[in-house]
Amino acid sequence: MAGLLEGKVAIITGAGNGLGEAYAKLFAKEGAAVVVNDLGGARDGSGADKSAAQKVVDAIQAAGGRAVANGDDVSTLAGGENILKTALDAFGRCDILVCNAGILRDKTFANTSEADWDAVIKVHLRGTYNCALPVWKYMKDHGGGSMVLTSSTSGLYGNFGQTNYGAAKAGIYGMVRVMAIEGRKYNIRVMGLAPGAYTRMTSDLPGRKDREPDPLSLPENVAPGVLFMASDLAADHSGKILGVSSRGVREIKMMETEGFEPGRPYTAEEVAKNADKVFFPTPESRRVESVRMVQPKAPA
Ligand code: NAI
Repeated sequence: MAGLLEGKVAIITGAGNGLGEAYAKLFAKEGAAVVVNDLGGARDGSGADKSAAQKVVDAIQAAGGRAVANGDDVSTLAGGENILKTALDAFGRCDILVCNAGILRDKTFANTSEADWDAVIKVHLRGTYNCALPVWKYMKDHGGGSMVLTSSTSGLYGNFGQTNYGAAKAGIYGMVRVMAIEGRKYNIRVMGLAPGAYTRMTSDLPGRKDREPDPLSLPENVAPGVLFMASDLAADHSGKILGVSSRGVREIKMMETEGFEPGRPYTAEEVAKNADKVFFPTPESRRVESVRMVQPKAPA
């Protein structure tokens, strides 16, 4: 049976480890030729090591797949341009981009230095722009394609100690929403991803430390959801954000309440009096997990 990505060329950034590595291996198994990009630095973004991307390429090739390594830094536009060039030089086209590369510099807001703020914004938000822009221009002129941009519940819901990361990830959510609208006429599908998996990024979070990972929490269990998003199976779902984790796959959506709509000038006291219309109901039990807070579902 033909694979879901037969004949396609996919770029995956940050694919030398963790989630990106799992996507690269599954995409190659499904017939895609893959550009495995990775700078190969530490979790906080320091250092670089070209062997990170190469070892994933070696594994894909050993399994009979097609892949090429790229060690560019996504935090520069020149890096993004060269990643696309690697795809075009090696495989002659580009159909899929997964922006996945990321770093962490967690601190409470009061302790977030300018350097920690800038580094995280530069790799995640600016990095998504740097990689998506050249590919967007290419896809626009070559019949379209699909993009998966990696957000996070840390940005969509909030998470303690991650203002820099949450700001970048919420910014990526905004990119998905706007690019999906602009991409319609060029046949470019853009989807957002909020993954959850046991990787070097999350392995020492409270609640996960000193605990064997649940097999469902492995990156290999996020990869099929991302394959769905990158493939033609997701044809009508541009602009949507999927949460993909050990819990499975679900859509995450921005919602409004019924609201207080007086249709006349009003006072602040009236807003307070109509709090039941302005705000979502306070949940009886708020689900609080060690790594994220999930907001209550709004009434249908
Ligand atoms: P990871 O640390 O295992 O992988 C990230 C990869 O990105 C690393 O191989 C790293 O070398 C690469 N990278 C970092 N900076 C780069 C740069 N400037 N240029 C090129 N490559 C660079 O982390 P993981 O967990 O696989 O994360 C992948 C993505 O998923 C990230 O965007 C992360 O923020 C996001 N995410 C992960 C979650 C999880 O539960 N693991 C939760 C929410 C979001």
